[in-house]
Amino acid sequence: MTERVMAPRLRVEDEALDLSLRPRRLDEYIGQDRVKENLKIFIEAAQVRKEPLDHLLLYGPPGLGKTTLANVVANEMGVQIKITSGPAIAIPGDLASILTVLQEGDILFIDEIHRLSRLVEEALYPAMEDFAWDMVLGKGMGSKSVRLRLPRFTIIGATTRYALLSSPLRDRFGATYRLDFYDLKSLEEIVSRAAKILGVSIDHDGALAIARRSRGTPRIANRLLKRVRDFADVRASGKITRVVADEALAMLEVDDLGLDDIDRKVLRTIVEKFDGGPVGLETIAASINEEADTIMDVYEPFLLQLGFIDRTPRGRVATRRAYEHLGLPPRDPANVQQPPLF
Ligand code: ADE
Repeated sequence: MTERVMAPRLRVEDEALDLSLRPRRLDEYIGQDRVKENLKIFIEAAQVRKEPLDHLLLYGPPGLGKTTLANVVANEMGVQIKITSGPAIAIPGDLASILTVLQEGDILFIDEIHRLSRLVEEALYPAMEDFAWDMVLGKGMGSKSVRLRLPRFTIIGATTRYALLSSPLRDRFGATYRLDFYDLKSLEEIVSRAAKILGVSIDHDGALAIARRSRGTPRIANRLLKRVRDFADVRASGKITRVVADEALAMLEVDDLGLDDIDRKVLRTIVEKFDGGPVGLETIAASINEEADTIMDVYEPFLLQLGFIDRTPRGRVATRRAYEHLGLPPRDPANVQQPPLF
């Protein structure tokens, strides 16, 4: 059973959608084959030894299924999962009140674990390592430290920013897996599966058209499926074909590669305002009125994956491919600032 201890920042619409479409078992989970294979062994070994699962860290861009996988792991292990997030645990006391109600083997899922405060993180170390909670009783000279025993539990941490995790925290996870963007075939299967659950009529090419524009991300695939379904219901006969999907997605201003308005704004800003870069992330963010963190977490990973931007020590640079995609001539090499040779 899933219990949300303190709500992470999920939009209500996404949450309802995610819940209805989420796979519950590993064999329903499409894609991420390498992670799945490793998890199978990890889970089976713990079950054979009749031990709680070792702490597990999942990282990768948003929407790739970190929360879903945590729930799948809980179902496979037959344990309860409680869900919270780094920013929701303000003080060590918040963490204590969660940990002390866990049962042996339960999973605590901490989303955005890179956002735990230093104090909370330090209180987590003995909990993860020794299943102990250190409390100081009294004040000043007369104070003493007591150690409470905690049930043996499992932390599943999730982050979009692996590099922001301190190394003591990273070292306390027994296994760390990176989720990658999904390939087209997996996304097509995810769209077809979701359509079946939602009772939407779709053909293979329709599912493929949605998959192709989903930026390698199941959450986006499922969201687009819902919007294309609206279009199919209102403007077509209710069935999603390639033509219907193409028309609906064009109306949503999602282009052939799945880039939306904000992706294009990021690219256009680098290309048109800053002559292709290099330009700092904060400057790009200020130019388009977005949070730098949102650009870094949500938009940049896919633009990097497409090879549309490069990260350099001096900032972001638009590549030739970005110019081609925007239908612009590549920048004049004479205007490109070369780094000094010596
Ligand atoms: N829905 C969202 N992600 C999924 C996945 N990886 N497999 C199946 N259905 C999904």
